[in-house]
Amino acid sequence: SLVTVILAGGKGERFWPLSRRNRPKQFLSLDGSGRSLLQATAERLLAIAGGWASIYVVTASHLADGVREQLPELPEENLLIEPEGRDTAPAVTWSTLRIAERYGKDTVVGFFPADHWIADEAAFQSTLQAAAELATKEDAIVTLGIAPTFASTGYGYIQAGEAIGTYGTNAEQEGFPAYRVTRFTEKPDRDTAEQFLATGTFSWNSGMFVFRAGVALDELLVYAPEIMGPLEEQGVEAYPTLPKKSIDYALMEKTQQAYVLPVAFGWDDLGDWNAIERLLKGESANVELARHIGLDTHGALFYATDQDDLIVTIGLEDTVIVRDGNVTLIVKKDRTQEIKQVLKEIQADP
Ligand code: GDD
Ligand code: MG
Repeated sequence: SLVTVILAGGKGERFWPLSRRNRPKQFLSLDGSGRSLLQATAERLLAIAGGWASIYVVTASHLADGVREQLPELPEENLLIEPEGRDTAPAVTWSTLRIAERYGKDTVVGFFPADHWIADEAAFQSTLQAAAELATKEDAIVTLGIAPTFASTGYGYIQAGEAIGTYGTNAEQEGFPAYRVTRFTEKPDRDTAEQFLATGTFSWNSGMFVFRAGVALDELLVYAPEIMGPLEEQGVEAYPTLPKKSIDYALMEKTQQAYVLPVAFGWDDLGDWNAIERLLKGESANVELARHIGLDTHGALFYATDQDDLIVTIGLEDTVIVRDGNVTLIVKKDRTQEIKQVLKEIQADP
């Protein structure tokens, strides 16, 4: 089995006004299931982890109580609390150090973002078995690659090189083919993303990583000594001095130990409001998670925290409307990325 760590310290600002500082995206239930993304992630990991004892959550201190509330079965010692968020490189490095201390350097660890939707949980689990096998046999830092569908600039891109055989067993009992990674590029610009897509050899990085603790720590010492050094020496006390850097830039773009398993379990990074529409319906329907009366209204998404709110629209197209308490957001669907900019202004001049 696998020691699993959920990365749950992010902000998810593009879901504002539903996401707020103390209620980030991972605490929200966005699909109408009543289960938050964090809860869904933990439940999905239970079988692979073999129980709550092997599930860890790493998060920022202002979110710790929220995690306790949402995951009452998580053992307190498995809640790793960062003084403040420093992006994922410090979170992964510190968690891996703690797990190596507790279970030894040969332990296989899996890191999982808390902000994903996964369709086929059985396929997800057999893929992770394969990833754990690959991590052990090849001293691999295993990535799970998603078949790309468009030139997104919001993902990491992984280029598959030499095939190195199959691992685990999938539905057809053939195992999952694994490849060495020849190139990892985090969030390329549009032109580069299009070039990558055209080659047919790249997949999107799902943001999940599986490795033996000692393998990742050795690589981090080489490629991210400014993070690994202080954390190894001072532990969590080092946080205020650490740079803000994601694991993708700090380690994945540099390591020679990366491998990729192309996966197919139905995956969506719930990046912004448009993802909710993909999840709930199709591209063009009016998706309603609120009481809504629409006249000549097409391709709109309505979301309200108070289900008694009534939203009336006339002659509206491709718009997202979100109501939360006394805040209302109205944004064109193709500009939801800009919510982050508005938030900067709100914070600068509240
Ligand atoms: N503990 C902790 N501390 N967790 C964090 C922090 C932090 O400072 N910052 C982010 N996280 C958590 C988020 O809550 C999320 O679950 C996960 O780490 C990934 O962070 P994001 O900020 O959502 O990353 P991203 O979506 O921009 O990019 C990553 O995921 C993509 C796929 O969704 C990268 O790995 C990309 O390469 C990848 O394609
Ligand atoms: Mg994300």
